[in-house]
Amino acid sequence: MGKLAIIYGTGFGNTGLMAKAIEEGAKSAGVEVTLKAVKMASISDVEEADAIAIGSATYKGMAMPDVIEFVKGMAGLSLEGKVGTTFGSYGWSGEAPGVISGMLKGYGMDVIEPPLRIKRRPAEAGLEECRQLGVQIAGKLK
Ligand SMILES: Cc1cc2nc3c(=O)[nH]c(=O)nc-3n(C[C@H](O)[C@H](O)[C@H](O)COP(=O)(O)O)c2cc1C
Repeated sequence: MGKLAIIYGTGFGNTGLMAKAIEEGAKSAGVEVTLKAVKMASISDVEEADAIAIGSATYKGMAMPDVIEFVKGMAGLSLEGKVGTTFGSYGWSGEAPGVISGMLKGYGMDVIEPPLRIKRRPAEAGLEECRQLGVQIAGKLK
């Protein structure tokens, strides 16, 4: 079974809750998971993983700048065919996950669509969607 790196940016913790639930789902399906806030993550986390889930909340119609910088830093890695997905909490427009998905597709990754977006703080139903995404990623790694 492969390895999943979940790397996320969050201002108030909502996207962090999503990240944790994705981790739970993937682990329940037997995947080894590295979960890191983007400030603590390094490119080697991506290199060592078979699948990458990138999260960002949306602020001012954008993904969080440190997440964008991190994903830009993935250019030049060998990502062709690697499983990718994106997720994030939002308030009303929720652009961030779609923007990051576009970047991952540009790297030739096998991106799970559509991105998982949850409005504000995820309630139990939303957390369950996140766990299911973790299980879906695990299925792609078999
Ligand atoms: C200053 C500010 C700007 C925001 N801009 C947007 C926006 O452009 N579009 C949107 O969908 N949500 C926007 N939001 C709402 C956040 O995305 C939302 O609160 C989200 O749950 C935050 O997730 P986090 O806890 O992971 O940071 C904004 C929130 C703040 C405080």
